[in-house]
Amino acid sequence: MATVKRASLLVDKSYRIGEVDPRMYGSFVEHLGRCVYEGIYEPNHSSADTKGFRQDVANLVRELNVPLIRYPGGNFVSGYRWEDGVGPREKRPQRLDLSWRTLEPNEIGTNEFVEWARSLKAEVNMVVNLGTRGPEEARDLVEYCNHPSRSYFSDLRRSHGYPEPHRIHTWSLGNEMDGPWQIGHKTAYEYGRVACEAAKVMKWVDPHIELVVCGSSSGVMPTFPEWESTVLEEIYEQVDYLSLHSYFGNPENDIKNYLAKSLQMDQYIRSVIATCDFVRAKKRSPKIMNLSFDEWNVWYHSREADTKVEPWIVAPHLLEDVYNFEDALLVGCLLITLLKHADRVRIACLAQLVNVIAPIMTEKNGPAWRQTIFYPFAQASAYGRGTVLVSVVSSPVYDSKDFSNIPCLEAVSVHNEQDSVLTIFAVNRDNKSSLEVECDLRSFNGYKPVEHSVLANPDLKVTNTRDNEAVNPRSAKLPILDEGRMEVILAPLSWNVIRLGK
Ligand code: AHR
Repeated sequence: MATVKRASLLVDKSYRIGEVDPRMYGSFVEHLGRCVYEGIYEPNHSSADTKGFRQDVANLVRELNVPLIRYPGGNFVSGYRWEDGVGPREKRPQRLDLSWRTLEPNEIGTNEFVEWARSLKAEVNMVVNLGTRGPEEARDLVEYCNHPSRSYFSDLRRSHGYPEPHRIHTWSLGNEMDGPWQIGHKTAYEYGRVACEAAKVMKWVDPHIELVVCGSSSGVMPTFPEWESTVLEEIYEQVDYLSLHSYFGNPENDIKNYLAKSLQMDQYIRSVIATCDFVRAKKRSPKIMNLSFDEWNVWYHSREADTKVEPWIVAPHLLEDVYNFEDALLVGCLLITLLKHADRVRIACLAQLVNVIAPIMTEKNGPAWRQTIFYPFAQASAYGRGTVLVSVVSSPVYDSKDFSNIPCLEAVSVHNEQDSVLTIFAVNRDNKSSLEVECDLRSFNGYKPVEHSVLANPDLKVTNTRDNEAVNPRSAKLPILDEGRMEVILAPLSWNVIRLGK
């Protein structure tokens, strides 16, 4: 028999965590597997535009409303020569990409990608190679992209058919430089020094840019958080954001433990903030370091298959995780966690966008479709803009293999004052009981519920396919708000979006 547990949520519009930076809903496109080729770009596809970009994919990207896309890697960038990807296509070399053991044809490069992203109203977070290359190539790329004219690289861009500068605002100083797998892996001090010198000259070329410096490639690296502390000692005043990366999985097939993994993300963010503030205190600096969580997602389904992929081909099927319903629930918990830190996490990028650990999948010469994780991301991106409010949760708790005191109710609220909309994002982690949540919303006079959307499915392992998007949100009965109190029922193991408007 279905059981019901009780929880409560208190939200007051005066108690704010911070404004959501739209870049919280960023994404990531790497030259990896079929993300670029057969993903966003497939010139022979029936939906391709004159530039070869698939419009079925572009339309799904529009639904996600991503304001920022990190590019071109990832591990790929640490061996990338950006010059290979600009100028006449017939002169572009095909190269070995050592990071993923594939062939890179360089049909898509900086200019094509920036144009594509802009056509979808997204800015580019351009990553420079600090693996095999250094400050010189990084400043050259800033000059190529952002300098108007009358210098070697800006005139080169103009000669390639781009008279106007791209004016790229967000730049990243390499990728996961703490990882031994990285081409050009460095110690924290080596990286801190080279990143600082790159940052200086990049900002000398264009003082308007913002810079992201590499933190650890995950919170479980042995060098974490010493890495952050050493790197920031060298570069604190030159950069604007420190990066974080995390991937999660359920290889042990333990749903209770899996859904608690967002608590690990929460702890990681708290530790990075503490480390940034420690360096700030040491330096007597007035500057607050913000965070860029520029790789996050579920990644584990494809690991085994990837060991069997043939090397040295163009666009192999790599990192093609097929997501199930429980993955969508975890992605929901991760989104809530990021929002709860909106005061410091200004940028976040779901890794990645198409085919490679992605919300969108494609078939060559075939359709494109939404994976299960597409929906929590799309809904958060659509409704999670405004001010994040302190959401006081009182909930039954449970313990799992790696965590204790896990709240069954995971929730956060975002108030969009301009549109007079309050949105509550909530996950019920309990696998047996519904949660009856008593919401105290007494400061929202005149508001009434307008939507309760639910993502739920009795089969945790169900996936979306090209022919059947089995996992997609449904409308639930609207809760009643009476004298500032609203009671809402959350189904066992469900992602919920409850919106109230005037
Ligand atoms: O997103 C896939 C890979 O994960 C990226 O290339 C790398 O930065 C990380 O290890």
